[in-house]
Amino acid sequence: MQTLFFNEPGFAKEMVKAPKRQLLKWIGNKQRFAQRIVALFPDEFNTYYEPFLGSGAVLATLAKENSVGADNFLPLIEIWKTLVESPEEVKHWYKERWDFMMKRDRKGAYEAIKASYNSSPNPADLLFLCRSCYGGVVRFRQADGYMSTPCGIHRPISPGAFSKRVDEWYLRVKDVRFIHSGYQETMRKANKGDLVYCDPPYYHTQSIVYGAQSFSIENLFEAIDDCKSRGVFVALSIDGSKRSGKLKCSLPPTKNLFEREVFLDCGRSMLKRFQMNGLSLENEVVHDRLLLTY
Ligand SMILES: C[S@@+](CC[C@H](N)C(=O)[O-])C[C@H]1O[C@@H](n2cnc3c(N)ncnc32)[C@H](O)[C@@H]1O
Repeated sequence: MQTLFFNEPGFAKEMVKAPKRQLLKWIGNKQRFAQRIVALFPDEFNTYYEPFLGSGAVLATLAKENSVGADNFLPLIEIWKTLVESPEEVKHWYKERWDFMMKRDRKGAYEAIKASYNSSPNPADLLFLCRSCYGGVVRFRQADGYMSTPCGIHRPISPGAFSKRVDEWYLRVKDVRFIHSGYQETMRKANKGDLVYCDPPYYHTQSIVYGAQSFSIENLFEAIDDCKSRGVFVALSIDGSKRSGKLKCSLPPTKNLFEREVFLDCGRSMLKRFQMNGLSLENEVVHDRLLLTY
């Protein structure tokens, strides 16, 4: 496997623009790296599949017709479906809850919306909670999926500002098909010449957040292997922004699954050290990395 660094002089190709601002706040979102990730996609491909959609930063940056966005978290997919069917409805969901919050004490209102979500998980409450919760990190209790994040310290953005984001994101994703499904089912749909971009929950740091305790990277590698053998291109994000240090972040053996790995952002000193003496990056601060089957 060839190792490359995105910030090496002369490496980057021209980049498409990411949306100016995030629509949803989502842990592990790829807003910061979306342009670089898209720049590493093949020059030509047919249908684009994103099986771990989350807040859709990469999908919205690519903004390609005939794409499929999927996630196994139903209330989240319902936000996306409603955005393309009725963007005004999404604006209304947000404004209704924002007005409710501004007329009361902020924390009390937040807790009421959270209780409403927990008694019956739904896209309207989830949308507002992800924008107003502490640190923008929607967490779910392991045992029963209860959303447990406390109220954020900042006042959520105004309905007017949120509406502008809805308009921008609607234009980018209006021709996307959103589906509620597990990644294996989504990846099975891809055919020769299609592209699958995977951003799985990272198994050390994000399992509690997404309630994905059973997530197995080995199973994902099998699904990638299947895609590759059918002639589907696959790009896989790995590592997130966590630090390696004591935390073991090495991957299980990937055999010859990937042709290239690209470090999307690493400091100059790290780059130099790597180039000068070929030291392993194992104990360094590891930034976002993209593995490519092509
Ligand atoms: C790291 S996040 C993706 C973040 C995304 N790239 C963004 O920019 O926001 C991982 C997503 O995978 C979803 N997920 C977890 N396990 C899944 C599974 N088995 N199948 C499909 N989606 C899954 C989670 O609900 C979460 O939205």
